[in-house]
Amino acid sequence: APALLWGGRFTGAIDDLMFQFNESLSFDKVLYKADIQGSITWAKALRKLEILSNEELDQIISGLKQVEKEWEEGKFVIDTKSDEDIHTANERRLGELIGSAAGKLHTGRSRNEQVGVDMRLWAGEQLNELAAILKDLLRVSAAQAKEYLPILMPGYTHLQRAQPVRFSHWLLSHATFLMGDLQRLEGVKERVSACPLGVGALAGNPFGIDREFMAKDLGFASVHPNSLCAVADRDFVVEILQWASLLMAHLSRLSEDLILFSTAEFGFVQVADAYSTGSSLMPQKKNPDSLELIRGKAGRVMGQASGFLSSLKSLPTSYNKDLQESVEPLIDCIKTVSQCLRITQGVLATLKVNGDKMKAALTDDMLATDVADYLVRKGVPFRQTHHIAGAIVRKAEEARVSISELPLDVLKEISPLFEADIAQVFDFERSVEKRSASGGTSSGSVLAQIASIETLVSK
Ligand code: ARG
Repeated sequence: APALLWGGRFTGAIDDLMFQFNESLSFDKVLYKADIQGSITWAKALRKLEILSNEELDQIISGLKQVEKEWEEGKFVIDTKSDEDIHTANERRLGELIGSAAGKLHTGRSRNEQVGVDMRLWAGEQLNELAAILKDLLRVSAAQAKEYLPILMPGYTHLQRAQPVRFSHWLLSHATFLMGDLQRLEGVKERVSACPLGVGALAGNPFGIDREFMAKDLGFASVHPNSLCAVADRDFVVEILQWASLLMAHLSRLSEDLILFSTAEFGFVQVADAYSTGSSLMPQKKNPDSLELIRGKAGRVMGQASGFLSSLKSLPTSYNKDLQESVEPLIDCIKTVSQCLRITQGVLATLKVNGDKMKAALTDDMLATDVADYLVRKGVPFRQTHHIAGAIVRKAEEARVSISELPLDVLKEISPLFEADIAQVFDFERSVEKRSASGGTSSGSVLAQIASIETLVSK
């Protein structure tokens, strides 16, 4: 039977299927670099306690760097019979490379703390990367909003035509959700960055190891405050999965809009060939698969969030192997979010925007609120003006004309306050520019929104 790290008290060999069932190296090998970083810091802390000599420390550090190089170059040879996870694999290899000094490295340390260190270091780096990609997406959104500023489109509620808005304003509505995701990420990163190193298997470290030094050496923001909690703590994974779930909901809603807007029935936008695929049967088809995949993958991330939280919810105190179930969803979620953000960016950067189609979809009845507002400006209470404008819409429907085509005398019959200047109200551009309070769809408000995105992403 192969020598397992913890095999001392065992007489029987592990079942083959059980070994495969238990092993995590097949996926936690992505943590190799973080694991080695953690071990180098650990070795330095052992040196401070004089558990290692200077010579042993040097041997361990250069051995670990060699192991890291083997992973990097794809030369690390996994022992499929004994390498259970990234921690045991690295320690086993270190022993082969440097001999007995390797046996001192794990003094006072547990894999329970080690896995927490590795996952947090890795996740922190990945989240920095995601923040950068998210900023790129926001930059593209802002640039496109600037580019298409003059284009007007129908704004919808309940998917029914409501009021005219700028296409840019619609785009920025999605970007605004993403700004929230970027801001939330800062808080998540802070909580990911708590260092469990030095908590032992559950009870703490008996050698007086310098936890502050180790946290600082590894670039953590804080020291995890409770050893029992630290080895049990995957809240940072839950938070990442939940953060990602909401982000994916946002990308999915944007995708849904674009899928709808790219139908022939709307024709507002066209997804570039680079982000579309065809049909094996119907030669004419061009499908927005990029966006459909994003919409679909949102469900995948949400499922992982709820799945892992279910694994977590009834765990007894401190470390239990169930916690290993946090690793795969974390890795998969980061990969999925990264891909979806980058694909969304590509889709937006290459999107063909059909302003004429959007303009053609604007109808005069979408200015009924503006008609009501016209009378408000003449002192009529809004509840009455709403009623009057409603009567005008009904009258136009009966006469089979648009509300702008009703003659002034017909309008005057409904309210004597209508004057010839009501004609100015039937102007989509004017309607949009009236909405100039902050956050509205006027060009000034839209430009201010663009500026605030630019400020956020330059931080
Ligand atoms: N692969 C394990 C995990 O992800 C590492 C910790 C193992 N610890 C233990 N006592 N078996 O949780």
